[in-house]
Amino acid sequence: MTSDPPIAGTVDLGSLSFADGAHLLLQRELGRIRPGEAVAVTGRDPAHGVDLRAWCRGHGHGVDWPDAGDGIVGVVRRGLVDTDRWSGAERAGGPGPSDLVARPPARWGLGARGALLEAGGPEAGFDLDDRDLVWANIAPRLYAQAAARQWDPSAAVSWDAAFDLAPDVESAVVQVMTYLVENEQAALIVPARFVGRIHPYFREVVQLLAVQMADEARHMEVFSRRALLRGDRLGRSSAGGRASLFTLVSETDFALSSFLLSVLGEGSFVDLLLFLDRHAPDPVTRRICQLAVQDERRHVVFGMAHLENQAAVDPALRDRLRAAIHRRHDALMDTAGLNQDVLDALVLLAAGGWAPEDIARGSRAVRRLQHEMDQGRQRRLVRLGFGADEAAALSALHTRNFM
Ligand SMILES: [Fe+2]
Ligand SMILES: [Fe+2]
Repeated sequence: MTSDPPIAGTVDLGSLSFADGAHLLLQRELGRIRPGEAVAVTGRDPAHGVDLRAWCRGHGHGVDWPDAGDGIVGVVRRGLVDTDRWSGAERAGGPGPSDLVARPPARWGLGARGALLEAGGPEAGFDLDDRDLVWANIAPRLYAQAAARQWDPSAAVSWDAAFDLAPDVESAVVQVMTYLVENEQAALIVPARFVGRIHPYFREVVQLLAVQMADEARHMEVFSRRALLRGDRLGRSSAGGRASLFTLVSETDFALSSFLLSVLGEGSFVDLLLFLDRHAPDPVTRRICQLAVQDERRHVVFGMAHLENQAAVDPALRDRLRAAIHRRHDALMDTAGLNQDVLDALVLLAAGGWAPEDIARGSRAVRRLQHEMDQGRQRRLVRLGFGADEAAALSALHTRNFM
């Protein structure tokens, strides 16, 4: 020891051992003084002397040993290691979702937004790191709403409600449910492929997509459960339907994927669920469609919101969206599109009977549904900046599989 450091205070550890947290008292006291200044440490634990020396060595503080008693176990001189360690640190932006930086650096990686990040962490490669590409101001609000509206499939649906359906009507329900389950599977997998690529700095978007995936998981559950409610077999799955869904799942561009899935697909899916709500032959089918449609509306809102954002700053976006529709249309050209069994089942559910006039009414209802889907797609395309004529032409190229 070259000269006695000024003693700025005393900290009494009492009988608290270092194993039980004595360092917290000491650290708190050291936080109040400047490097080079010292605090006297008193305590009654026989191990204090040894433990104090070990802790100080590990944390870059000096310990001076006065001869004197008075329960003093050491005089600790604050070192520079702590301050040095944090000298290259930086804040990962502000904590709130306002004033987001345009492009959080890779080194912010898994650091909490707004935290003081010690230098030297890994460069985490989240490639979706552009605010204009992933963010929408509505995301925090939409996430809160989504979290508040999670429903429990076993409690929200009266699975043992009494109803009696003719076997062919039950088969039609099972066929539609089979188709819905496949669509829900795709709708879960698509966001799952992007969640791990979005920079966690945009955490509300990650949270929102996580809840969206939970929504789809519940939809898969309720539609499967309804399919098997009165029997033990699912309906048919067409190759064309699966091909259509596969083009969604294989899209690797976030904007194009949201466009095809949420804006075009889930938008049309909302109309389908509303149709099933109207024409459901039993209360269980009706209820699960009502529950799912509330969630699907949210999915469409987010898809639209972040694409509207992006369209406002990137004039080339519309060209890419247009190309994506054409590409998908060409890829599906040789497939049958919608499973004929599904189409027939929808007609039968809307017909409500087998008289020729019933079937005619059912067919009209399904054509009306397809018209409503088309109108909805056109409206959303216009909101993204397409002219009315082009919106009509592009909507017509959408997959016949609805999703
Ligand atoms: Fe869904
Ligand atoms: Fe969805």
